[in-house]
Amino acid sequence: MVSSMAGDGARPRGLGGGEALFGDIRRFDSIDSTNRYLLDEARRGAPEGLVAVADHQGAGRGRLGRTWEAPAGSSLLASVLFRPELDASQLHLLTVISGLAAADACFELSGVMPGLKWPNDLMVGHRKLGGILAEADLAPSAVSAVVVGIGINLSWPGELPADLSSTAVTLEEASGVVVKRDPLLDSILSLVELRYRRLGDPWGRAAQATEYKARCTTLGQAVRIEMADETFTGTGADIDNEGHLLVDVGMCLRKVTAGDVVHLRPIA
Ligand code: BTN
Repeated sequence: MVSSMAGDGARPRGLGGGEALFGDIRRFDSIDSTNRYLLDEARRGAPEGLVAVADHQGAGRGRLGRTWEAPAGSSLLASVLFRPELDASQLHLLTVISGLAAADACFELSGVMPGLKWPNDLMVGHRKLGGILAEADLAPSAVSAVVVGIGINLSWPGELPADLSSTAVTLEEASGVVVKRDPLLDSILSLVELRYRRLGDPWGRAAQATEYKARCTTLGQAVRIEMADETFTGTGADIDNEGHLLVDVGMCLRKVTAGDVVHLRPIA
């Protein structure tokens, strides 16, 4: 089932009195993946700002080829389509601003401010509250579309399964507040729009990378970086102006643009 809110006036107007960027929201009871749906829509020419949100995904996608599973109605499962005028090297900033906006929206509605684990995890302590998956559709000469998917655990039916409860958390468990999906989505979309507009100039890009740096829980941590062809350890040292992680490996700083980061806990 899909229904659209386009033109129903439910979303606030955008900056300067124009239409809100994320005015066309397509809602699904069940779909394979909201990211897959928007990438296909992008290939068919859908405009920037299209949003997809689902109660349930049958084949939700996580980073690094993993799956993202959540019981129906338990989570915010949403994706947004960007057609950014950014260099390929700057595209990670879309993950950065989406993470900042999602964390701020969680705080606004629940009072709990999640930490941001590089590159894309919303954390409460050592447990994962949500994740962000950016997927690009690369045209022959340029990036033509980027879909950013956001999954946030809101309220689980019953207790979190034992195999998840040490690594995952819901917003209800973390805050004691039952946060509804639609107000959270509304808040995230408004905040992402403000931040996205600021990516248009170099100062806005640098300021948001700096803000992410101040809130990134990976800095100062002993980390193991797991990449497709290599694993190494070091200390999370810095975030550059494009949102990439710099890891202190002793002799130098190594820039990490992709891969999995494991926070290593010191052995007591
Ligand atoms: C991660 O691995 O941490 C990223 C998870 C991203 C999950 C979201 S849920 C909505 C959107 N649609 C998908 O298929 N994946 C993303």
